[in-house]
Amino acid sequence: MNRKLSRRSVIATTVGLLGAGLPAFGAGRSPTSNPSADLLRLIANENPYGPSPAARAAAQQAVADGWKYAFRETGALKKQIAAHEGVPASHVMVCAGSSEALRVAAMAFTHGEGRVVSATPTFAFLPTYAGNIGCTVDEIPLDAGMTHDLPAMATAVRPDTRLIYVCNPNNPTGTRVTGAALADFIDEVTPRATVLVDEAYLDLWNDHAEHTAISSIRDGKPVVVTRTFSKLHGMAGLRVGYALAPPALISQLEKLRVTNMSYPGVMAAAASLRDTEFLAFSRARIRECMDITAGVLKELGRPFISSYGNFVYFDTGGSPADFATAMRRAGIMTGMHYAPYPSWARVSMGRVEDMRIFADAARSYFGRET
Ligand SMILES: Cc1ncc(COP(=O)(O)O)c(C=O)c1O
Repeated sequence: MNRKLSRRSVIATTVGLLGAGLPAFGAGRSPTSNPSADLLRLIANENPYGPSPAARAAAQQAVADGWKYAFRETGALKKQIAAHEGVPASHVMVCAGSSEALRVAAMAFTHGEGRVVSATPTFAFLPTYAGNIGCTVDEIPLDAGMTHDLPAMATAVRPDTRLIYVCNPNNPTGTRVTGAALADFIDEVTPRATVLVDEAYLDLWNDHAEHTAISSIRDGKPVVVTRTFSKLHGMAGLRVGYALAPPALISQLEKLRVTNMSYPGVMAAAASLRDTEFLAFSRARIRECMDITAGVLKELGRPFISSYGNFVYFDTGGSPADFATAMRRAGIMTGMHYAPYPSWARVSMGRVEDMRIFADAARSYFGRET
């Protein structure tokens, strides 16, 4: 598949649902509804357990100090991240969420020319932006297990391919390629193009060191790894992420940055990184949510992919839009779906109690009351 900016593979079911055509919230809710007045957000892969108590306290103090630019503190956070990841500070760029790094990388390594290779479906931020600035995006379908088809992606690399995007674990399918497979892929393709590995979800799992592409960066290969405080750390609204790469690539990225970091975001990130107790708690809750979700999907006979993200991709067996509409009536925002899997939908993990509400709503929808 090869598209120049045209049709993106992502169909955001919610765009329509949030806008028009639905009864006002609360009308016609099922008995298994979310009892709260707010819609449960099981849609954007956030983590409602965050920010950590330490991060909240640091952000609050930082609001009072918010008359200052956070230059010095951003430098300190960069050093802290470098120590955490085992690379020199020259290998780190701190940015306003990892999505800033994704866009800047698309610009820095293509300047709006040539080709970008990505999987489909995947997190569309980088491929969409690359298309918007004039690149041709070669979208390579996932394999039969809904995992990146690395051999097919390597074959798709042409002389004018500038950047290859690998989302590991992949959003929306939650599949992960192993560190060993990724290292072989990087060895094969990096003489011809830069590889960006988006590891937004990798640190949700304790074995992340085995599967990260950071070792290729230490070897000096043209590889960028992006990471975020939005998922494990539960700080999506505070907008902090980072890119790791060899220093020459970091300077290319830094030249095209457009934002400075917010004081509360930087201070919260620094505190969160130190709050290992919260990070263990966060991992454990996400695991518990996954078990509840996998359990109900199994019980209801719905096929799903074992996920390495904080979301589960599953087969509704019908229309994901109908499913999303029914969930919204039950007070739950969910239901992103993506081509080319017309009956599949993604549900994000919330709090443990949220997933119990989702499980009950799913039982009602699929016809098995508890
Ligand atoms: C794979 C992936 N990468 C990056 C992001 C963006 O995260 P951030 O909040 O760090 O910009 C997301 C957000 O959902 C994502 O799913």
